[in-house]
Amino acid sequence: MQYISSRLSDDGVPAFGFGGDYNPEQWDPSVWVEDVALMAEAGVNLVSVGIFSWALLEPSEGEYEFGWLDSILDLLHSSGIRVDLANASASPPPWFSHKYPQSLPVTATGVRLGYGSRQAFCASSPDYRRAAAALTTAIVDRYASHPAVVMWHVHNEYGCHNQPCYCDESGAAFQRWLEHRYENLDALNAAWGTAFWSQHYYSFSEITPPRLSGTFVNPTHALDFARFSSDELLACFEAEAKIIRDRSPHPVTTNFMGFFMGLDKPLDYAAWAEQMDVVSNDHYLVAEDPRNFQDLAMNSDYVRGLAGGAPWILMEHSTSAVNWQPRNIAKVPGEMLRNAMQHVARGADAVLFFQWRAAEAGSEKFHSAMLPHSGTDSRVWREVVELGAALRSISELVGSRVSDAPVAIIHDADSRWASELDSHPSTDLSMMAETRLWHDALYRAQVTTDFRAATDDLSSYRAVIVPMQYLMTDAGADNIRAFAEAGGTVVVTYFSGIVDEDNHVRLGGYPGAFTDLLGVRIEEFYPLRENETTTLSRFGVGRIFSELGRSAGAEVLAEYAEGPTAGSPAVTRRAVGSGFAYYVGTSLSETGVLELLETIAIDADLAIADSPAGDLEIVRRSNGEDTWLFAINHGASAVSVTANGTDLLTGEATAGRLELRGGGVAVIRENRTTE
Ligand code: GLA
Repeated sequence: MQYISSRLSDDGVPAFGFGGDYNPEQWDPSVWVEDVALMAEAGVNLVSVGIFSWALLEPSEGEYEFGWLDSILDLLHSSGIRVDLANASASPPPWFSHKYPQSLPVTATGVRLGYGSRQAFCASSPDYRRAAAALTTAIVDRYASHPAVVMWHVHNEYGCHNQPCYCDESGAAFQRWLEHRYENLDALNAAWGTAFWSQHYYSFSEITPPRLSGTFVNPTHALDFARFSSDELLACFEAEAKIIRDRSPHPVTTNFMGFFMGLDKPLDYAAWAEQMDVVSNDHYLVAEDPRNFQDLAMNSDYVRGLAGGAPWILMEHSTSAVNWQPRNIAKVPGEMLRNAMQHVARGADAVLFFQWRAAEAGSEKFHSAMLPHSGTDSRVWREVVELGAALRSISELVGSRVSDAPVAIIHDADSRWASELDSHPSTDLSMMAETRLWHDALYRAQVTTDFRAATDDLSSYRAVIVPMQYLMTDAGADNIRAFAEAGGTVVVTYFSGIVDEDNHVRLGGYPGAFTDLLGVRIEEFYPLRENETTTLSRFGVGRIFSELGRSAGAEVLAEYAEGPTAGSPAVTRRAVGSGFAYYVGTSLSETGVLELLETIAIDADLAIADSPAGDLEIVRRSNGEDTWLFAINHGASAVSVTANGTDLLTGEATAGRLELRGGGVAVIRENRTTE
């Protein structure tokens, strides 16, 4: 990121990236001059160009038309605006799909999707891969040394609309992937448990993608297909990134979609992140979610983990409404600034939007933009200009990192996909909902949270939350146990550690991977009815799940007080080595989690705020010398914040307490404490 930050201004002084997707090809060239002048007015210094321009750049196979792109890059350069240049492979043109119809993706029901929207290709299609490589080569050969270009944008939101693909070419690639993974059919049959329902395979060629069948398909088959689908798209990225890296020193990225990568869009971002020169992410609020700012924070925390704690790029968010939700509610005044500052607080060093100028045609014409349909005499434009100024006023933070994140939440794509498969004890089981419940409690307690994989180094954390990590490898379970033994506090929730890497149940009592660590032995699940709750002896009620079992060495903090599981442990605590291991066998209410967090915080030596409204966001970044406190008030009433330093947004000094108005944001450079 430092490479990019220091190239955003002529003097090389690191700056926050500020700008968005710029699609000049949708406009007459006469508009471009106004675009660039207004970008300068708003302080835009970075735009993503060419993401959806394949059809204009390559009118027919192997014939390129770069004139308009030459002009726009020269124009941007003459105004000092830097470019994140796309390799344009995201959306093959109609001529391509028409010429190579077998490159179109196929659904699990066997329907071959048409073109006419975007991203209409199968990741395994040799025709697509060949064409994308040729296009990438042509673009990079032409623009690698263009002075406006500072980074490369491969594709766009891989997998958003086109995967997993179940076509025959995907099927053949899946067979090769399985041969590589298992080497022989005995290993595959054992891993998939094919003795069940007469599913034994005698040849790899018999294996198809897990297409719609009469009833549940083999769950390990389905899990492997998710793994394969992620790898297959990643191979597309790697091939295109290699072409770029062979020709240009600029960093390469592709924009992630945060947590928008469940079983329906399987992307193992932990594996993808290893292939990025800089991690970038897109985030859109769910407009109707009253705590959507917390969801934003959670996504940013996740992306920061993918970036290994280093600064990352917010590649897209919106100035106001989007166009693709059921009700596209506009942001209220000040909300965009709060959102942008949340991302920055949590590690972003660039704040970009989809998109620069609101479209007049096409499916996204009602999507907000930096320059709205109504032009510069608009609230959105004025707030965009203010945001540009705000980012300049805090530019001393560029390159700093989020400091003081004492808690990690475990998140593994494999576990999420496996948990989202069918034929489980309850359709109400949701790893993401449980993850969010715990992140929200920590957010309300003003505890900054990282996301880590189960096998990551956890030694810097005081507490680790394991929310419904249904699939747990031996290595992950060992790592989590070692963390507790070394003095950490672990919190494992229900439906964690149930299966191994092959999606086979760990026998001998639930939660198999963690029974010894937790000192509990669960023998039977009792999922609750829809919206049913069950009273606990402490921490309020349980929701979604309850269990029949007993303590096997753990202290019982709460038991089920009613129903078929009455007397079984619901919340337990066990001293382990010099740390602690908690088990939560049901989904607690928001208040129940907060109450339990108070107990956990004592064991974990965790400072937690008493912030019941949960709308004051407190995060710190540091460069090792200075520390900056972000205080973001999502509520309507003023709040008092402990702060000593200077608010970079206003220039005002605060000593002791800061009164932060409803909806307000402060970025305080904290006074250095003298020895
Ligand atoms: C995604 C895409 C963009 C645009 C936005 C709209 O993030 O990457 O091209 O479609 O959604 O919200």
